[in-house]
This record gives sequence, C-alpha cells and structure tokens, in this order.
Amino acid sequence: MPKLFHLLCSPRADSESLAAARVFLDRFRKARPDWDIDEMNVWRDHLPEFEGYILEAKYARIGGKSFTESQRDAFAIAERMAVRFALAERVLISTPMWNFGIPYKLKHWIDVISQPGLTFRFDPARGYLPLVKDRPTVVILASGGDFATGMNRGRVDLATPYLREALRFIGVRDVQFVPIGPTSGPDEPVRIARDGAHRRLAELATRF
Ligand SMILES: Cc1cc2nc3c(=O)[nH]c(=O)nc-3n(C[C@H](O)[C@H](O)[C@H](O)COP(=O)(O)O)c2cc1C
Repeated sequence: MPKLFHLLCSPRADSESLAAARVFLDRFRKARPDWDIDEMNVWRDHLPEFEGYILEAKYARIGGKSFTESQRDAFAIAERMAVRFALAERVLISTPMWNFGIPYKLKHWIDVISQPGLTFRFDPARGYLPLVKDRPTVVILASGGDFATGMNRGRVDLATPYLREALRFIGVRDVQFVPIGPTSGPDEPVRIARDGAHRRLAELATRF
C-alpha cells in the first residue's frame, strides 16, 4: 500500500499547523482512499538521545571503521526511523516556528536520520551525495507573525531555509512550503491567514 508519512511537530492541542495538516489529510484521503497514512509525533514517539553509542556509530562510519555490537544496535534505531521516512511516497511535515527556526524535537529527528551511509554519503571526488529518493513533500509552517516576505518586524524566518537545506541534503528537493501566519494578534489577519492556508492545502492535496 502506498504511504504518506506525516511528521507532526507541534505539542499544542490547539495547534494551527496540526489543524492545517488535518485539512490537507482529509482531502488527501478522499483523493487517495487506498493510501496508508503513517503519522509520527516527534513529541510522543521515542527519539534516541544523540550521544553514546549512536554518536560513536556516526563517527565510526565517517572514519570508515566497522561498528561494535553496541554501536550497531544503537544505529539500528536511526536506520528504522530513516527507513520509515524513506519508504513513504509522499511526506507532510507540520511544524511551528520556534525562535525563528524549528522546534528542537524536529531538529532532533533530523539529527537522528541524517546519517552517512543511510541518508547521505560522502564521495571524495564528488562531495556530499544524497541517498534518499526525491518525493513530493509539503511543509506546513505556523508562525505567530507573518513571514510571507521572509521577514517580520525585523525578525527573519530561518525555519524555511533550514528545512529546505536539511531535506535537500538527503535528497528531497520537491518541497512546497505552506506558511500560516500570523497565528496570533488581531482576529481578522489571523482568520485570513488560516483560511488562505487551508484553501491552498485543500487544493494541493487533491493533486499531491
Ligand atoms: C517557544 C516558542 C517560540 C516561538 N517563536 C516564534 C518566532 O520566532 N516567530 C514567530 O512568529 N512566532 C513564534 N512563536 C509562536 C508560534 O510560532 C505560533 O504560536 C504558532 O502558531 C505555533 O504553531 P502551532 O500553532 O502549530 O503550535 C513561538 C512560540 C513558542 C511556543
């Protein structure tokens, strides 16, 4: 069964990014009822601390050394997480903007799955090469401010360029960002931003 992988990154019950993801997924399910939707919540699902054996495993691989048994066991967790993502034909990431960037749990997931020999490799002649097959990906980014121009009241959106680069590095280039903002402040601009994003997502989902 083809799979859409949804990485859910807001811990809030009233999350705007999650509400928008639900709009997208409702439409997607109608368009593709035979698809499996695999949801990972970065706040609830286990993410291994990136220290000890798993960290040693990364450095062993970079240094061209074989794993010890403990390193292999620790690395297997990263492998399972990367495979869960890599096996999906479509990806949806719904996330808040936190302090100009992404929540640390999403960064944690990226740190776990970005591994040499797993999602990228290094070739001395050609440099860094991605190992994940490209696939259509939508990123829903909710922010208190409106970052449509990339800036808000002197603040910069670092979440969009960071996520674009982190995904490109492992091979995922076909990424569309759907920002929702402002999500706080006077009602009318919040409603307009929400409605606009929901409309765009409903439309995107039918041809995703
Ligand atoms: C820790 C934290 C940091 C935040 N940093 C920013 C920020 O840098 N820029 C911004 O516009 N909004 C910021 N916000 C507001 C959130 O982006 C906003 O509430 C958004 O709707 C959260 O997404 P969610 O509704 O899906 O949880 C921050 C909120 C929190 C809790």
